[in-house]
Amino acid sequence: MSELLDIELDGRAVKDEPEIPIAPVMGRKVFIETYGCQMNISDTELMMGVLKDAGYALANSPEDADIIVLNTCAIRDHAEERVMGRLGQLSSLKSQRPDLIMGVSGCMAKHVSDSLMKDAPYVDLVVGPDSYRRLPELIAEASGDSTLDVRLDRDEYYTGLDPLRKDGTNAWITIMRGCDKFCTFCIVPYVRGRERSVPAQEIVRQAQTAADEGFREITLLGQTVNSYHDGIYDFADLLEMVAKVDGLSRIRFTSPHPSDFSDKVIATMASEEKICRFIHLPVQSGSNPVLEAMQRTYTVEAYLKLVDDLRTVMPGVCLSTDIIAGFPGESQADFEATLELMAQVRYDSAFMFKYSARKGTVAFRDIPDTVSEEEKVQRLEAIINQQNLISKEINASYVGRSLAVLVQGDARKGDGMAVGKSDGFKTVVFPRDGVADNILVNVEITETTLRTLTGRIVQ
Ligand code: SAH
Ligand code: SF4
Ligand code: F3S
Repeated sequence: MSELLDIELDGRAVKDEPEIPIAPVMGRKVFIETYGCQMNISDTELMMGVLKDAGYALANSPEDADIIVLNTCAIRDHAEERVMGRLGQLSSLKSQRPDLIMGVSGCMAKHVSDSLMKDAPYVDLVVGPDSYRRLPELIAEASGDSTLDVRLDRDEYYTGLDPLRKDGTNAWITIMRGCDKFCTFCIVPYVRGRERSVPAQEIVRQAQTAADEGFREITLLGQTVNSYHDGIYDFADLLEMVAKVDGLSRIRFTSPHPSDFSDKVIATMASEEKICRFIHLPVQSGSNPVLEAMQRTYTVEAYLKLVDDLRTVMPGVCLSTDIIAGFPGESQADFEATLELMAQVRYDSAFMFKYSARKGTVAFRDIPDTVSEEEKVQRLEAIINQQNLISKEINASYVGRSLAVLVQGDARKGDGMAVGKSDGFKTVVFPRDGVADNILVNVEITETTLRTLTGRIVQ
């Protein structure tokens, strides 16, 4: 399961980009492959929008491309290893076609900018998360000489740019960039820079554009999405503003930080029907000494009180979380406290990770890595096993219930089944019975597994 979850977070490869029928820059085609979190998916769409406006066409495959960009993640070592492996694979294309431009963008581009071109000499272009506006220029430069731009820019909000989205039901909208929390294990503040909030009017404009393009759902994105503040409006205000956008049926957001979940946001969620009853609330650990060493800024007691408040105001709200197993100094008792917290909260689902030391972070520098690899693996397995049982039990309790599901597409090719998401972010599969994508249907649940609810459409 950990591998599956890792793939979910680290490797949403964007495949089969649509080819855009526009006059290309000398007929040049770009292929972007995305790794990492939703913010990177959103950044890829931003880059595709910038490149489309500059006259580039989008390729369907790396083989078909004149420019290949890997939009990368640095959150764990494994994420970076995968990109190095993929670059190695793609380098054969470069030896066949020396004119091919190979680029690396995103968080890993910033994290390993010093060594990347040495370790992968066939890379021509290294571009950090705050330099995508300049991408056409940088590509032009890279045609001559290898080019690197990884400056962080606290004034870059990417306002006024329109992302090129893949067809679908959900539009990602980045509402804030960077992070100021500096959790001791985390590389994000170093690779994405200071926290800054996109002006609310710009977000409303983007939400309206997405709705006009036919998207029924938007997901507001930020590393600590609920600490949003543009100087005038806070996160609760913003939720209210986007809930008024015509044409949207659902509003989601990820990831909120437990310390910044205000009563005002909870009240807004409760009063706006379009805001989905699903909250990804990363806890990381169930032990106070570990939370303190991680600099997470909340205690177990404060976190549990928040969960209680959320469930009181929104009965039936679905919750998921992130857990790190084997943070430096984590004792057997700390680990057991995490199991206990998870049993107490009973999350619908969780992303669970083995601690990975990241060069540049406080934990890497100052906290000795006391937990052996073997212990980390064992603890992660125990956490996953317990969560799987809980997820299965919660899902089983849905049999006989009817859920509103936004239809996303075919579940598998050719078997007549469609797939969509419930308000609580459950994956629901059902016979399509002729219904189109991107509409809301009611599905009565008849069977469940760890990851999927199956049912049939009812009135
Ligand atoms: N901003 C989000 C987290 C983004 S990173 C938040 O604070 O909630 C997604 C998840 O990756 C984190 O919640 C954490 O569980 C995990 N993660 C981050 N750094 C890690 C590391 N060095 N080793 C293992 N997991 C890590
Ligand atoms: Fe990383 Fe912490 Fe910021 Fe999340 S809040 S991105 S875990 S530093
Ligand atoms: Fe990875 Fe960067 Fe997201 S490090 S998790 S792609 S913000």
